Amino acid sequence: MNDSSGIQIVELRLAGFRAFENVRLRFDELTVLVGRNGAGKSTLIDALVFLRDALTDSLENALTRREGLSALLHRSSKTAKKLSIALTVRISPAYLRAFTQRTGLVIEPPYIRAGIVATYGFQVTPSRTAKGFRVEHESIRFDTPEGHAGPQPQAPHRYHFFSREGLSLPLLAIGKPSLQLILDALKTSVRAYRLSPEAIRLEPPIGRTSILHRNGDNAGDVLHSIERNRKELSWITRHLAAITPGISRLQSGTAAGRRLIRFFQQSGKSTRVRFDIRDMSDGTLRCLAILLALRQSPSPALVCIEEIEDSVHPAALSVLLDAVDSSTRRCQVLLTSHSPEALSHPSVTPERIRVIQWRNGRSQLFRLSTGAEEMSRPPRSVGKLLRSNALFTADEPERVESDFFTRFFGL
Ligand SMILES: Nc1ncnc2c1ncn2[C@@H]1O[C@H](COP(=O)(O)OP(=O)(O)OP(=O)(O)O)[C@@H](O)[C@H]1O
Ligand SMILES: [Mg+2]
Repeated sequence: MNDSSGIQIVELRLAGFRAFENVRLRFDELTVLVGRNGAGKSTLIDALVFLRDALTDSLENALTRREGLSALLHRSSKTAKKLSIALTVRISPAYLRAFTQRTGLVIEPPYIRAGIVATYGFQVTPSRTAKGFRVEHESIRFDTPEGHAGPQPQAPHRYHFFSREGLSLPLLAIGKPSLQLILDALKTSVRAYRLSPEAIRLEPPIGRTSILHRNGDNAGDVLHSIERNRKELSWITRHLAAITPGISRLQSGTAAGRRLIRFFQQSGKSTRVRFDIRDMSDGTLRCLAILLALRQSPSPALVCIEEIEDSVHPAALSVLLDAVDSSTRRCQVLLTSHSPEALSHPSVTPERIRVIQWRNGRSQLFRLSTGAEEMSRPPRSVGKLLRSNALFTADEPERVESDFFTRFFGL
């Protein structure tokens, strides 16, 4: 369980979402997606963001942002025109206690003692209405974690709504504290990053958020909120200095209503030169944003970083992966990577690898074969196997259990 967020992302189940006709993604504290271009790595991350968007904003906007349901549905002649998605999370007793204190809402004592494992999901189909979609089902199921022996809760473990034209999710939670809790937990649980040095360089107007935006454009605000904590600031500075030699200090600032970041670099024994964000290299800015994403507070449960190696020197990449590794106590991390160097880091163990392959019009997710797992143990590595094109996968893809959605949606 993550120390900071109190929420652990357990698994995502998906059917009919873009290239995925069916997939089950089980998360570790660090999970690494590998696969050829167009295999479906970004699609899986977007599925997580889609679910979060549907909860924080509305399903309609989440669909519109993705060109509508018809663009999102898996395109194939055979499969049913339905999109089903379900996310399972584990919520710690500490999170539950803080939630009841914050909101005054009552959660049953057995849950407070043991924590909750919750699965939330919905199914949408196209419709001829103006909106163009129809929510067929919305479900939530919650339970005490497996192996919990104490008293069991009395409240129903399952809530379920069907077919509401124009339903804007989430509908379930209204008036039910335990559901409100789970939806709140889901809303803040996932942050996905596609960081852009150009966006970081824009130096936007001063903002108040301490949560890093998807492209990193509010890096200055996030640094400002972190730098009050000296230990965290020195962690970030230390890692950045190992990536870009000479950096000795970082500081947020303001000028003319804009948020700035100042970088101090050692030049000679006793002289320090100040640089602005505009002067810094693409790789430095991207790495700084990754470090901020890992240390932002409040910490999301899961931080997703696409193509961690982008514009990073191989030597710096190992520092970045050290940073990821030491942050997995605070938050889970999901990475995508094409880089043998990144995949050679000791934290990238074979069990953490998910290989995505696109075959015959659909994407599938595999674990490594037992042979490939053995072959990638030290002194070899997953990266070495990737370099020799030998990341052989298990025979069977990771699919949703055959009757899962049927049972979950009470069909
Ligand atoms: N509605 C759809 N139905 C079926 N396949 C789709 C649909 N929409 C997109 N695709 C496929 O999904 C692929 C996109 O996959 P994605 O962007 O996730 O790849 P990736 O693994 O992130 O690749 P890269 O490494 O290049 O970033 C497209 O190439 C396209 O073939
Ligand atoms: Mg991609």
